[in-house]
Amino acid sequence: MYVCVCKAVTDSQIKNAINNGVCTRKQIFDCLGVGKNCGKCNKQIKELLDGNRRQQSIMQEASNEPILNAY
Ligand code: FES
Repeated sequence: MYVCVCKAVTDSQIKNAINNGVCTRKQIFDCLGVGKNCGKCNKQIKELLDGNRRQQSIMQEASNEPILNAY
């Protein structure tokens, strides 16, 4: 699905950039050229970044959970 219509950038492209270490809106803007025309995509880009941060936080918490011994 297109997130930035002005630059024809999809959510998959943005998620790939995030998964490859792009972690701020400015970096996404610089990397993919989004958000510089009409700016309508900025909210959705923020949501993608926030969703990724929440997911990383949940994974971090899960990795800190003690492993229960089933024996
Ligand atoms: S939709 Fe992204 S700058 Fe216009």
